[in-house]
Amino acid sequence: MLTSKSTILVIGANSKTAEALSRIFQSFGRTNIVFLTSTATTIKSGNQEYGETIVADFTCRKDIKDICLQIQPSVIVNTAAFTNVDACETERQKAWTVNVIGVENLVHVCRLIEAHLIQFSTDYVFDGNDGPYIETAMPHPIGYYGKTKLASENVCVGSQIDYTIIRTNVLYGATRTLKADFVMWVLKKLGEEKPFSVVYDQFSNPTLIDDLAYLVEKIIQTRQTGIFHSGGQDWLNRYDFARKVAEVFKLNSDLISPMLTAELQQPAHRPLKGGLISLKAETTFGIKFSGVERGLLTMRRQLQYMGHREWAS
Ligand SMILES: NC(=O)c1ccc[n+]([C@@H]2O[C@H](COP(=O)([O-])OP(=O)(O)OC[C@H]3O[C@@H](n4cnc5c(N)ncnc54)[C@H](OP(=O)(O)O)[C@@H]3O)[C@@H](O)[C@H]2O)c1
Repeated sequence: MLTSKSTILVIGANSKTAEALSRIFQSFGRTNIVFLTSTATTIKSGNQEYGETIVADFTCRKDIKDICLQIQPSVIVNTAAFTNVDACETERQKAWTVNVIGVENLVHVCRLIEAHLIQFSTDYVFDGNDGPYIETAMPHPIGYYGKTKLASENVCVGSQIDYTIIRTNVLYGATRTLKADFVMWVLKKLGEEKPFSVVYDQFSNPTLIDDLAYLVEKIIQTRQTGIFHSGGQDWLNRYDFARKVAEVFKLNSDLISPMLTAELQQPAHRPLKGGLISLKAETTFGIKFSGVERGLLTMRRQLQYMGHREWAS
């Protein structure tokens, strides 16, 4: 097991974000990366062939403490979360345990070993009345998922450890196991060649996972703390985003028709005018987030490279 002080521990090995992180760390020649996963079986998917992978439950304080005392990471990047927004409404205890207790445990160990915690949050901490939002906007979550993520932010803010909170929104990107995201959902629906509807009253600025991972790399390099927003250049509704997916992947956009969010009658309320203004991150780190066309072209190229030719011929 790695024991270097420069070790980076990534929690949630099988998340979309962790896969993009493994790509970016590899491209920066980083060694001493340890991934932690809650599910032994998913390792077999080959998601992380870069770095060491440990199976453990980060919601168990003793387990995560023992691991961190042994490997002594200088940075912990927590990508793990219960991200199913509707399931969070009905499985509240699980949502709180993963999204809040897990973060409390990480804060506890970061205090012990003086590690820097990088924690992800969401535009769902806002009500969606007047997005896109800047970092200092007043949070007001309208669903349980957003409430747990805001609680996890507050755990960091009140902790007196070095922490960086990255709020992001509508993640998409290529993964070897074709992990679910909005773009993959649209691609699958288009592949069925049957008409389907997409909401036109939910606005966001979708974020390419590789851009998010690059921001994490910059934060690790500079040890910048505080809250940063990350989102792509284009603020648009889901219907227009879905049509852009069809265009970039050369599929039939006429299959897509617009609908209202209210028609879906989902358990969780959705912020309608969401999204995040990334100016602070862009100026602090000298980076630029992709717009949807460039992001989707990157994703298409990566899917081709990974051999997923059914989606990207
Ligand atoms: N996806 C989005 O559009 C979006 C938008 C805004 C913010 N975010 C935030 O960004 C971060 C990364 O999101 P993501 O979409 O990359 O995540 P993801 O693909 O949904 O993966 C989340 C990972 O969390 C781990 N996990 C799930 N349930 C768990 C449990 N009960 N106990 C322990 N670990 C558990 C799993 O990894 P293992 O199987 O390896 O344990 C899972 O793969 C999260 O904090 C999320 O809230 C995401």
